[in-house]
Amino acid sequence: MISQKTIQEIRETAKIEDVVGDYVTLKKRGVNLLGLCPFHNEKTPSFTVSPTKNIYKCFGCGESGGAIGFIMEHEGMTYPQALKHLAAKYNIEIDETKPSQEAIQERQTMDSLYLINEYAQKYFSSQLFDTQDGQSIGLSYFKERGFNEDTIKKFGLGYAPKGFKNFTDSGVKEGYKLELLKKAGVTSQKGFDFFRDRMMFVIHNLTGKVIGFGGRTLSSDKKVPKYINTPESEIYVKNKSLYGIYFAKTAIRRADECILVEGYTDVISLHQSGIENTVASSGTSLTVGQIGMIQRYTPNIKILYDGDPAGIKAAMRGLDMVLEQGMNVKVVLLPEGEDPDSYLKKTGADAFKKYISDNANDFILFKVNLLLEETQDDPVKKAGLITDIVGSISKVREPIKRSLYIKECAVRMGIDEQILISEVNKILYKTLRKKEQQKAAQQATDDAPPPHTAADAPPEEGLSPTGEVAPPKSRELTDEFQEKDIVRLIVEFGDRTLEGETTVAAFVLANIEEVMEEFDDDLCKQIVAEAYELLRHKNPVEPKYFLNHTDPRIPDLAITLTHTPHEYSPNWEDRLNNPMQTQVMPDKNYIRDAKEGVTRFKFKKVCRLCEKNQERMKIAQAEQRTEELLHLMKVHQKLVGLREELGIELGTVGVIR
Ligand code: CTP
Ligand code: MN
Repeated sequence: MISQKTIQEIRETAKIEDVVGDYVTLKKRGVNLLGLCPFHNEKTPSFTVSPTKNIYKCFGCGESGGAIGFIMEHEGMTYPQALKHLAAKYNIEIDETKPSQEAIQERQTMDSLYLINEYAQKYFSSQLFDTQDGQSIGLSYFKERGFNEDTIKKFGLGYAPKGFKNFTDSGVKEGYKLELLKKAGVTSQKGFDFFRDRMMFVIHNLTGKVIGFGGRTLSSDKKVPKYINTPESEIYVKNKSLYGIYFAKTAIRRADECILVEGYTDVISLHQSGIENTVASSGTSLTVGQIGMIQRYTPNIKILYDGDPAGIKAAMRGLDMVLEQGMNVKVVLLPEGEDPDSYLKKTGADAFKKYISDNANDFILFKVNLLLEETQDDPVKKAGLITDIVGSISKVREPIKRSLYIKECAVRMGIDEQILISEVNKILYKTLRKKEQQKAAQQATDDAPPPHTAADAPPEEGLSPTGEVAPPKSRELTDEFQEKDIVRLIVEFGDRTLEGETTVAAFVLANIEEVMEEFDDDLCKQIVAEAYELLRHKNPVEPKYFLNHTDPRIPDLAITLTHTPHEYSPNWEDRLNNPMQTQVMPDKNYIRDAKEGVTRFKFKKVCRLCEKNQERMKIAQAEQRTEELLHLMKVHQKLVGLREELGIELGTVGVIR
């Protein structure tokens, strides 16, 4: 464990503009610095760095944090890794408090596995360059494949010798424990070399450490597997590693696109030809973890498929998941019988680049065309096609994109757009339901419900039951959150006392009385009105009143509002370097919540009234109704004053007049 003192020192020393500046070109803009966000794709800069606050925030994608958080996010590092990274940058000596015995053990094992892999890489490499077999078998093979010496060295290619225990014996002689050699997967459980007489490809993690190997045989014996790969270990987790990512990450960010190929040799060939934004999934379909790795650098992925139609259909099944993760997916079909490596060799880099850019198809539309070809006029097959496509479209996150797909696919498939819309909506509803159920189940199993900030209710995607998929409502665009917050306070804490004798309900209602008519949501409005009636008749405003209400929508909403799980990550505070006061149980926090909630609600509504009033002023002026205009101007002044007061209370800067 790194000591608090060291963490403090790192925090104080690491200048955000410095740390970010290593990755992003920043330009001065007033007291802040501005650049293109490294976490999402943008053309105009909205990534702001505040040297005075020592934080960054992207106004485009919402990413924010301090120097440590930036490194974690950007480099895919854990908290301690990021701390060490920064300590090294600033020459800060790390003072570690005594970690637990298990933690030491685990750390030590991982470190030794890294060391062993590094050793193995060097061993295979020296076998390749310095031995007779290595040169005549290995090196000549790689050269024949067109890899030059720089490439062979850069990618750490090697040769695993024939024989059963050459590597293992040499490792043991070097002092590596047999048990750990087995754990690293370079020695089999029986104590033999795992890789024998194979061309060795090295798998690196994001930071360039060797985590595993792929070994290719030259034997044409069908019983010998063409490739064998290191078994999974503490450091090699297959579904979280991508071949080539270490060498490709910078180029991926620069190109704002990741090219995905199947094999080791494809990656190496493309890199050697200068197409460095390339990684390989190593023969399997992408996993969520791998997509996540790519997503750090770009939302755009272009998948190159060998020209063999049977394989493509199988491979495309896995792609819905990539859509689901919010990536833009394009696919390129290579000419029949070619893989990226062979085709590149045939055409040369320039023609290859042109081919993949000319032949990049949108994934969904590509799939429609491909499947249409085979359904012909068979209605049963066509029904299957619709289900398939509808499934893919429903995975697309952005509603606007979804509706564009619906339109285009309807045309291509020759079916009514309305049918597609309702099919897609059915799936969306199902997914939403499922998520809600999962949330509820999660909630029920959590013994301690997560803390909860009233203002931070997660936005939900809007769906309209009748047809079109509505765009998600953002917090900026509606008052939904403020309204729901008010309702939540009344429903959950209405009967609690605030200060003296005042109850939460009385406090809230008294404060919002003047804007009570301004609720957008009818159900919220109804709940508030009923609470008002209860108070007027001196009845308690209790949760059970709402939970047992005869209008089923009311208990429904009450339950959702009072049980909305709120995200809370334990190192959130650390990452933001900014303790959040409201991250305590809502139960203990309702007084503060009530006050803030009311202010926020009023602020929103007063802003709205202000706008409406200004509209009226314009009309009155245009129609030269002087008397009315004067009155409206007085109202305006009052509203502006109120808005400013509320703004100050909320700490909102820049309240415009
Ligand atoms: N692969 C694997 N195990 C196999 C076959 C393939 O792990 N038995 C993975 C490897 O990562 C390989 C990729 O799938 O790189 C693509 O397979 P293939 O096209 O057969 O291999 P290439 O690397 O293209 O080899 P070559 O061009 O030499 O045939
Ligand atoms: Mn190949």
